[in-house]
Amino acid sequence: MKVIERNIALEQEFHTYYYHSLDWRNEIKYFDIPILQNPLDLWALQNILFKTKPEIIIEVGRAWGGLTIWLADALRVLIQKDLNLKWFTVVPQIVSIDNKSNTYVPKDWVFTSDNLITYLDDNSLNDDIIESVRSFCTGVERIMVILDSNHKKEHVLQELAAYSQFVTFGNYLVVCDTNASTVIEDFGAGPKEAMDEFLVSNQNFKLDLSRDKFCGLTFNSYLVKT
Ligand SMILES: C[S@@+](CC[C@H](N)C(=O)[O-])C[C@H]1O[C@@H](n2cnc3c(N)ncnc32)[C@H](O)[C@@H]1O
Repeated sequence: MKVIERNIALEQEFHTYYYHSLDWRNEIKYFDIPILQNPLDLWALQNILFKTKPEIIIEVGRAWGGLTIWLADALRVLIQKDLNLKWFTVVPQIVSIDNKSNTYVPKDWVFTSDNLITYLDDNSLNDDIIESVRSFCTGVERIMVILDSNHKKEHVLQELAAYSQFVTFGNYLVVCDTNASTVIEDFGAGPKEAMDEFLVSNQNFKLDLSRDKFCGLTFNSYLVKT
């Protein structure tokens, strides 16, 4: 097989095209629920979930809840495949945070009673929210964090400071939409710039570049706690 060198310029062109070419805020749904992730990013996440089998996933920024339900469904598949009960000794949980309660509840769905999800509706930087998250995380071995709320650099830096502490050894801290400053004109500094700054003083996190092979919009931003 011919190995082609990575073409970052082409990937960025694709990201820009993707961002501007469709109304992804309304058109991309997981079943009936709007999801703001690019489907290519979901494939990278699926690989990470299988590798790490997180017992807690903290999702910061939920919007309509498409990713929340996708994560719950992916965990449910892992639970079903865990025939010898080696992967999970507790029921895994998603703790999903948003400061606006836009969570979309499709009609006729068994949705709000989903026992894998806890919804926290407040500012992610509120001390009470961070303490609630801590109470979920105490004593748990495998914890993953996905930061996908306000994408301005200063906010992402504050969330990195508040939430990176919960990620456990060998697990992932995912900073979403790291290409915002490249793709969106006049966006200014965003998740990528925050993550670059965070990595300088947090050498216990390493970038896992192998997750970038799907050309997703979450790019150069899968951090592993080492
Ligand atoms: C990019 S969307 C989340 C998309 C979702 N993770 C998905 O993949 O479908 C960002 C969300 O973060 C929320 N948000 C923004 N600032 C926040 C903050 N300080 N605390 C909590 N949520 C916040 C917004 O209300 C919005 O719903």
